[in-house]
Amino acid sequence: MLEWHNAMGIPMVFDTLSRPLRDLRISVTDRCNFRCVYCMPKEVFGRDYQFLERDQLLTFEEIERLARLFVPLGVKKIRLTGGEPLVRRDLERLVEMLARIPGLDLTLTTNGALLAKKARTLKDAGLKRVTVSLDSLDDDVFMAMNDVDFPVERVLEGIEAAASVGLAPVKINMVVKRGVNEGSILPMARRFRRTGHILRFIEYMDVGHTNGWRMDDVVSAREIVSTVDAQMPLEPIEPNYRGEVAGRWRYRDRSGEIGVIASVTQPFCGNCTRARLSAEGLLYTCLFAVRGHDLRRLLRGGASEAELAEAIASIWRGRDDRYSEIRSSETIWLPKVEMSRIGG
Ligand code: GTP
Ligand code: 5AD
Ligand code: SF4
Ligand code: SF4
Repeated sequence: MLEWHNAMGIPMVFDTLSRPLRDLRISVTDRCNFRCVYCMPKEVFGRDYQFLERDQLLTFEEIERLARLFVPLGVKKIRLTGGEPLVRRDLERLVEMLARIPGLDLTLTTNGALLAKKARTLKDAGLKRVTVSLDSLDDDVFMAMNDVDFPVERVLEGIEAAASVGLAPVKINMVVKRGVNEGSILPMARRFRRTGHILRFIEYMDVGHTNGWRMDDVVSAREIVSTVDAQMPLEPIEPNYRGEVAGRWRYRDRSGEIGVIASVTQPFCGNCTRARLSAEGLLYTCLFAVRGHDLRRLLRGGASEAELAEAIASIWRGRDDRYSEIRSSETIWLPKVEMSRIGG
């Protein structure tokens, strides 16, 4: 296989389908203060659910050590996820540690519940941007989806706080589930047009196996775009970078842009450059992976930097995942990792 080197002369890694390693998504906790029906349904994630214990979680020092090893292998962007990343205590300290690594885009995906409180300290710690999940502007619909009676207004406050401290542009993720919130597509588009925030509609995916996913629940990107376009005319625009997951559309009157993430109907595995590290230190090479590779065992077993770097590189070199391209009625029954463990 061809070997490319980065500016420091260190070989970059490519997987079996020639895809480089570019993005690292780090889950800092498997806990969340929401119980979204499509992610952590209460019947499964109830009182008796065994979340990870504190000593099972990677420490901030362990996370930083791994992050520094990923960068020379090609990683340009780190996204902190959860569960809900802002429920991990002192997260700002981790942000500060990661922000010191040169040449990185450092971002975070959150449900927004704690964002109004934390936006300023996150920004000061060196976070660049945030993505906030919000599935509806209607309290009844939103509460039925987050299942903890969390009001829309407080998420909106979080979004505005983030924008006002400069964690911008703020991206807003809306998962669209048929029969649940497709009526919120237009109100959401109207609300965020002309704000400078970028609303992205996500097709409901069969991640994990607790959400009871059915193809009938998916509202396709095509349908979403045509719903918006009928009221507020759109035109397609070029991706910001190769491998961007969201297809971009802008309002013809130049009042902003939206994104659509069509991971079910138009899979983008061919350009997938993302690795995912779970809170307990398992490295997953696909959102739909059946198993992760245990980096915590290596870290705590005394591996050297060179041994860790080689382990990561060889995991990536062996990668052949393309789940969304081969999704079928059989694959949806595979014992996949839960979304709340790897943060989407
Ligand atoms: P930016 O371009 O920096 O905003 O990052 P991004 O587009 O990767 O944003 P984000 O991480 O918020 O991704 C949005 C959502 O798209 C995720 O939460 C997932 O639901 C979905 N997604 C992201 N990456 C993948 C992927 O590799 N495979 C699949 N199937 N879905 C993905
Ligand atoms: N399908 C699509 N997106 C999902 N997310 C969580 N579960 C699913 C699913 N089953 C989204 C969240 C959040 C991001 C991390 O992933 O809403 O925006
Ligand atoms: Fe929590 Fe995000 Fe999952 Fe909702 S989608 S339960 S906010 S981790
Ligand atoms: Fe990447 Fe797996 Fe998603 Fe395909 S299904 S885009 S390989 S994470």
